[in-house]
Amino acid sequence: MRVVSRDFRPSQDNSAAARNRNPQNTDAVQKIGHVHGYTWRWGTKRILVTVEKNSDHLQQLTEKFQARFGGEPMVVEAPGRVNLIGEHTDYNDGFVLPAAIQFHTTVAIGPRLDRRLIIFSQNYAEQVEFDASGLPSVARKHWSDYIVGVARKLQERAIPIRGASLFVHGDVPQGAGLSSSASLEVAVCRAFLEVAGQTMPSVDVALLCQRAENEFVGARCGIMDQFVSTRAERNHALQLDCRSLEYSQQPLPSDIRVVICNTMVKHSVAGGEYNQRRQECEAGARFFAERRPGIQALRDVSEDEFRRYGGELPEIIRKRCRHVIAENARVTEASGALRQNDLGTFGKLMEASHASLRHDFEVSCPELDVMVSLANGIDGVYGARMTGGGFGGCTVNLVRAESVETFQKKITAQYEHAVGQRPEIYVCTVEAGVRRVR
Ligand code: GLA
Repeated sequence: MRVVSRDFRPSQDNSAAARNRNPQNTDAVQKIGHVHGYTWRWGTKRILVTVEKNSDHLQQLTEKFQARFGGEPMVVEAPGRVNLIGEHTDYNDGFVLPAAIQFHTTVAIGPRLDRRLIIFSQNYAEQVEFDASGLPSVARKHWSDYIVGVARKLQERAIPIRGASLFVHGDVPQGAGLSSSASLEVAVCRAFLEVAGQTMPSVDVALLCQRAENEFVGARCGIMDQFVSTRAERNHALQLDCRSLEYSQQPLPSDIRVVICNTMVKHSVAGGEYNQRRQECEAGARFFAERRPGIQALRDVSEDEFRRYGGELPEIIRKRCRHVIAENARVTEASGALRQNDLGTFGKLMEASHASLRHDFEVSCPELDVMVSLANGIDGVYGARMTGGGFGGCTVNLVRAESVETFQKKITAQYEHAVGQRPEIYVCTVEAGVRRVR
């Protein structure tokens, strides 16, 4: 890899709060401005400036691509996600219920006549170059690992990676547990496929991107993030069976909002704790497999079997298993509750999920616990829990639409008071999966 340039031009105000979007609240809008491809709205009743991405941001990205590389790029974008329930179940062949959100990684790509792969990241203000026929075989702990990993996996499937120029920009908050990595992988994968003139079923795209992260980057993540980034539908949560990859789209009631609260504590799936949890779950699955043939993963262990044999397990493994087995049951119950518009039940399941992640799976942290307990004390909140891998990052909250504004104000003030750090609050729109936008 060659780092070609570092470009320290001041960038737009790219804070996630500034990108927060709440189209339902336009009644409060007083002024509208257009800056750097974002529509800024100032409201009388609102404390936060909300910003909508508009089509200008694609135009701007295209122009920046052209200024740097020349030519007409194709542009692809893939969303980040929030998981409503079903945490640390995906790599146990279990169930999850995530939704794609309004933050994306956008990739502009154009073919080159030579064999060079030139990649500029606007977020890192850095350009790197590779020879497409001799891509690095090991990760270097650099943002480009995700891209190289995907390119190598495509090459392994005999998809030609020709010379190309890529301009990459992401507005998924990084280290927040909202799948900035998966959205980068999926966007880049689709972009490479577009320039190669090839198509691939979206399930295969998700699997390929997961393999790139598992085998090249070295994070042993499950399939949830990549899958929802490819297959999500607007205004729907996606219920996924992570073994069979069967899924169903579940409409979200129009009178609730999915609100994400960022503790501002950084999390990383590449960190050792995540892989360690996975090993502990595998140890648990092996234990149960010795007692009942046919068990391949914790997904196959019933609550009854856990009660019968669980006492023989070392305490740590027993706690990890208890979380996964109960969490799988919660996802099934929560999906049913969502279908029946029973948000009270859904909220209680979120609460139980958080308690289990905190006490049994031990992936929460004090800031996440504070954020959840504050949310539970605010009117109009059906449920709150940590979301994603944990060890920092965000909580997900289901909030009655009419209570969202008060919720934002209260949780911001109360969290800042309790923790001494101002949180970012994102009122989400629920978006579709990866698509070519130009
Ligand atoms: C990360 C991983 C996912 C999943 C979650 C926890 O986001 O990438 O595969 O395991 O953590 O539910």
